[in-house]
Amino acid sequence: MTVPTRPAAETAPAETAPAAPRRRLHVITWGCQMNVYDSTRMGDVLAPLGYGPAASLEDADMVILNTCHIREHATEKLFSELGRLRRLKDARRAGGGRMLLAVAGCVAQAEGAEILRRAPYVDIVLGPQTYHRLPEMIAEAEQAGRAVIATDFPPESKFDHLPEAALPAGGVTAFLAIQEGCDKFCSFCVVPYTRGVEASRPAAAVLAEARALVARGAREITLLGQNVNAWHGAAPAGGEWTLARLLYALAEIPGLTRLRYTTSHPRDMDDDLIAAHGALPALMPFLHLPVQSGSDRILAAMNRRHDAAAYLGIVERLRRARPDIALSSDFIVGHPGETAADFAATLALVREVGFAQAYSFKYSPRPGTPAASAADQVPEPEKEARLAALQDLLAAQQHAFNQSQVGRRLPVLITGRGRHAGQIAGRSPYLQAVHLAAPETLIGREITVTIVAAGPRSLAGAWPAEDEEHAAA
Ligand code: 5AD
Ligand code: SF4
Repeated sequence: MTVPTRPAAETAPAETAPAAPRRRLHVITWGCQMNVYDSTRMGDVLAPLGYGPAASLEDADMVILNTCHIREHATEKLFSELGRLRRLKDARRAGGGRMLLAVAGCVAQAEGAEILRRAPYVDIVLGPQTYHRLPEMIAEAEQAGRAVIATDFPPESKFDHLPEAALPAGGVTAFLAIQEGCDKFCSFCVVPYTRGVEASRPAAAVLAEARALVARGAREITLLGQNVNAWHGAAPAGGEWTLARLLYALAEIPGLTRLRYTTSHPRDMDDDLIAAHGALPALMPFLHLPVQSGSDRILAAMNRRHDAAAYLGIVERLRRARPDIALSSDFIVGHPGETAADFAATLALVREVGFAQAYSFKYSPRPGTPAASAADQVPEPEKEARLAALQDLLAAQQHAFNQSQVGRRLPVLITGRGRHAGQIAGRSPYLQAVHLAAPETLIGREITVTIVAAGPRSLAGAWPAEDEEHAAA
């Protein structure tokens, strides 16, 4: 299971580095939360070399393009972006300077040397498992003046070679990668090939990183993994823990008020994990649990190893454990062999569950995956029509879910300033964005907010919440 891929975002993780960097770094991040985490960690690795945030792309001494290969035209998108970066690099050289260009992430892993063949001006190509070696790669690229490629799966774990996690000052929410890779081999998915086999970090390392994040101001931590609920890390005192056990331990860290984990596979939702949702107040009542399809025939073709009834059973047990739990999912329409009846089964499952939000995609053949060579590909217009119908239904469910919060008093973790002056913004337990007029001094606190309005994607709140106001009067 991959963490959901959201539209490309540009991040400059080196916000965490010293105020006046000797060298300026700009990281462009495409794809999932794991890539966002990796970009931050690459910034951490480079900080001791004097790298800090570049004011702009044009200003950077090093640009890292952290890529995503999960869907559609990943390679073309990369080369078009590289064309733009080449012009910047040439302009810098014309001015007597130098800009290092690195391609990281899953396209780098999948394409490897092909990137250097088509874009010889790239200095470094590195896969997701090797970024702890960035300092050596930079030294080699600079000194030897030749391109460096590192797309092996090294025997050592990068996690053992990273500096302590850095967190932007005042960062209230943080990601923490606990697991990487996947052994599930869904028919459509590149992750097992680009991220490698499933690997879990030891519990002690996870707990130490969580404590460090909390010490620097994090109040909410989202545990990350391509298949996070398959986590089975070494326990601090020998043996192994499950994710449920790890969550209980994390919940004891003082100051860590909220926990989430993503992305999970239905096959790995065990009874203890479901029970943890009822037992741990810190575990937020929101779960991203991709189902991909509602048709048993297509789920089998996808090699998902669960059917629709199994998924519905998990949802029912989760709701029994935590009645207010809100669900999110990923869907693929137009997987090879999907008929109109199969697609109707997906719509039926969506109606039965009622999702608070979801991501849905047209099937995109990924080179090297089994589904890509299947004969019964679904025509593009059919995929488009199905995606539009599914997205209409999901958007209506999301809006209805948001509307159902109006009038409620919700604990909102304030994460930062709002879009307008005098506004602050935060997160509801159900991962909805909440905007409200209140002082900035509340940033970092969880406060009770009355929800006064709901839009398709966010909520508007009032503070103090009504009865607190009365109590104060
Ligand atoms: N085509 C379309 N969507 C895909 N996903 C993964 N691989 C593909 C593909 N080849 C979707 C799945 C996954 C999410 C992160 O991306 O729904 O859960
Ligand atoms: Fe998720 Fe399946 Fe891809 Fe593994 S192979 S990351 S379970 S979609």
